[in-house]
Amino acid sequence: MTKKLFIETLGCAMNSRDSEHIIAELSEKEGFVTTDDLKSADLILINTCSVREKPVAKLFSELGVFNKKKKEGAKIGVCGCTASHLGEEIIKRAPYVSFVLGARNVSKITEVLHKEKAVEVDINYDESEFAFNDFRTSPYKAYINISIGCDKSCTYCIVPKTRGEEVSIPDSLIVKEAQKAVENGAKEIFLLGQNVNNYGRRFSGEHEKVNFTELLRRLSNIEKLQRIRFTSPHPFHMDDEFIEEFASNPKICKSMHMPLQSGSSKVLKDMKRGYTKEWFLNRVEKLRSVCPEVSISTDIIVAFPGESDEDFEDTLDVMKKVKFDQIFSFKYSPRPETEARHYTNTVDEDTASYRLTTLQNLHTDIVDEKNKEYLGKVYSVYFEDLNKDYFVSGRSDNNIVIKVKGSDELLGEFRDVKITEIGRAHVELQSRGHLVC
Ligand code: SAH
Ligand code: SF4
Ligand code: F3S
Repeated sequence: MTKKLFIETLGCAMNSRDSEHIIAELSEKEGFVTTDDLKSADLILINTCSVREKPVAKLFSELGVFNKKKKEGAKIGVCGCTASHLGEEIIKRAPYVSFVLGARNVSKITEVLHKEKAVEVDINYDESEFAFNDFRTSPYKAYINISIGCDKSCTYCIVPKTRGEEVSIPDSLIVKEAQKAVENGAKEIFLLGQNVNNYGRRFSGEHEKVNFTELLRRLSNIEKLQRIRFTSPHPFHMDDEFIEEFASNPKICKSMHMPLQSGSSKVLKDMKRGYTKEWFLNRVEKLRSVCPEVSISTDIIVAFPGESDEDFEDTLDVMKKVKFDQIFSFKYSPRPETEARHYTNTVDEDTASYRLTTLQNLHTDIVDEKNKEYLGKVYSVYFEDLNKDYFVSGRSDNNIVIKVKGSDELLGEFRDVKITEIGRAHVELQSRGHLVC
């Protein structure tokens, strides 16, 4: 009889790709098939995120629910970033958990499955050359890891403590994976890493030094590949060569994520981001000068310790100048093992909430204004999702979500679509973007 796997994935795109790797390993080597029905699962996995405090608190209540609902004999495993930083504490607090597998130890999934109470959370375990079995949730768009870990030390961020030091995956493996995905029908690839444009700084073995710009060139040589996207680039590493390749390479989608975090140079310094407000604005100006059609998204943290009203005004000022197409905005959340956790000049909760609402309201106004420009224009859309209401949706090159009435015949196809109606979309709880019909 086949064994059933229920897997819940929280967090970022890297976690989604890790879940695909976990499913691939468990299905090829252990004969598991995935299920949405928790009660019939033989193995229940939670792939966790610990970037902010809330999801971590939720984990233990969720584990309790899973333990009550699971069928007799079913195992529960905790994977991902919270697994990395809490380790065996998870089993101490929830003794019914069978194993804990850190974000940097995905390749050991079939090993821990057979070891009761295994805890594998080495954050510098090197799986940059591990050949994972193949599994993709979507046949149309292929997520591909290009590096693991993060070498930065942003003072608010736990990620370097959950995913360890940065190691690039050899370009030959990335190109091979992309070729295979394209042969299997994907026309778009989505490159993943915490600092994609720092690619090539460190490999684990002897490898040709290839930087991110060169990697993009090599990938765009894959004949049937039509679109390349990536996340996240770091503003500090956005040199002219990278921006010019981005603008001139027709396969690279004209949508750039530029995580600002704060518009105040003082706060950016306290965050150890490595750039100033002026540098950020200069990079946006350079990008728009060579690629006027680019859409720009960002991440912003409000109420970082020491953020004054003037500092927050600087963030609003950058918002007004750049007019981001999409923002992911968060209240600062103190995290263990980070430098900022020890800062005492915290911002009170009411001010933090006020700033978050002010920022999001300003962005809604910006998006409403920008949306008007889309009416009547024609965009090439790559269709990926069939919605229940007989709408098929996809994205334009510059990342606008576009829906048309249609059937699954459109999936995996490109069509030119004229925009006739505009709506507002909440792509995620804290993000606002465009939705166009
Ligand atoms: N490597 C990416 C970010 C990954 S984490 C980059 O540097 O852009 C995703 C986002 O979560 C960050 O951009 C930041 O905006 C947010 N974030 C990270 N730590 C946070 C914290 N302690 N509190 C609130 N938001 C945080
Ligand atoms: Fe975190 Fe900074 Fe690394 Fe991004 S670059 S993952 S924010 S430490
Ligand atoms: Fe991603 Fe969350 Fe880890 S954002 S890197 S899953 S802490």
